[in-house]
Amino acid sequence: MAVSLRILRMAGGRIDSGAAGQVKGCGSRLENETSMKLSLDAAVRDMAARLRQAGAPDPLRDATVLARWAVGMDGAAFAAARNDMITEAGWARLQAATAERERRRPVSHIIGRRAFFGRDFFCDARALDPRPESETLVEAALGHLRAHNTPAARILDLGVGSGCLLASVLAEQPGATGVGVDQSAEALELAAENMAQLGLAGRAELRHGDWLEGVNERFDVILCNPPYISESEIEALAPEVRLFEPWSALTPGADGLFAYRSLAPLVPAALTEGGAIFFEVGIDQAPDVAALLSASGMATERIRDLNGVERIVVGQVSHANAS
Ligand SMILES: C[S@@+](CC[C@H](N)C(=O)[O-])C[C@H]1O[C@@H](n2cnc3c(N)ncnc32)[C@H](O)[C@@H]1O
Repeated sequence: MAVSLRILRMAGGRIDSGAAGQVKGCGSRLENETSMKLSLDAAVRDMAARLRQAGAPDPLRDATVLARWAVGMDGAAFAAARNDMITEAGWARLQAATAERERRRPVSHIIGRRAFFGRDFFCDARALDPRPESETLVEAALGHLRAHNTPAARILDLGVGSGCLLASVLAEQPGATGVGVDQSAEALELAAENMAQLGLAGRAELRHGDWLEGVNERFDVILCNPPYISESEIEALAPEVRLFEPWSALTPGADGLFAYRSLAPLVPAALTEGGAIFFEVGIDQAPDVAALLSASGMATERIRDLNGVERIVVGQVSHANAS
């Protein structure tokens, strides 16, 4: 089922859509607002102290990001205005945002966006937040497309979530088109909003479904960052993740390998000659996932992320060599 694009729902899961709108006019203060006798700098320090007490891991950074969002300024305008008095409305928004952060709601969910591969993505509780380690997957897939000179490539993203992987590849490859599949209708809604805000809706089809079920075409590249956290790791997750991100995006239970086991035998039939799947994997899962792809007749490669963790397993198919 293709998901129709909706009018952008800017307020999804946020404290206040008004302030998000102000970001467009970065650098300008709200007119006719009265000011508090508190500088932006002092407001940041007050809020950072509250967040430190609440156990937030990076209180000063969080308080600064929330304050910039609350007063609707970009980084440069905020730095220049640090000694200005905060407005009453800005102060009220900042206090409400800090209260949300005190209960460990992610900053990205409060301000409604997060940067990934050089672009801003809407994010909220409907899908997993884009993660820096997944940028390694995008880089690897783009490297493959460039090496194989496939300007009109067809891309499949299994478990599209917020749309960050598919959108990043499509944005970097203007001739490419793609399909994003997810079993979560809510995630597909968010992906549709992200494709629209990035001007990619015309090149991305979004389908509600269970992995490759109902996918009958072949693709040059498959991207897949499935739920992979094992049952034993769940308790150790930070509250920001455990309490606020969708469970179905995080873990399949048991050893976390369920999706790889289900998909590995089916992937070769969904790839074109020379096509490749790029799986993101959890810590220490790369050998097992590579073995599953090898058992399906694919040539494999393991790629490390910026922290040195084996994070991506690539499986490349050669139908010519298949018996
Ligand atoms: C770890 S998240 C990845 C989201 C996004 N691709 C990213 O990298 O940020 C996994 C996604 O897979 C989806 N998913 C889980 N099981 C699925 C299934 N059987 N079929 C399709 N999608 C599934 C979840 O809803 C979730 O959006």
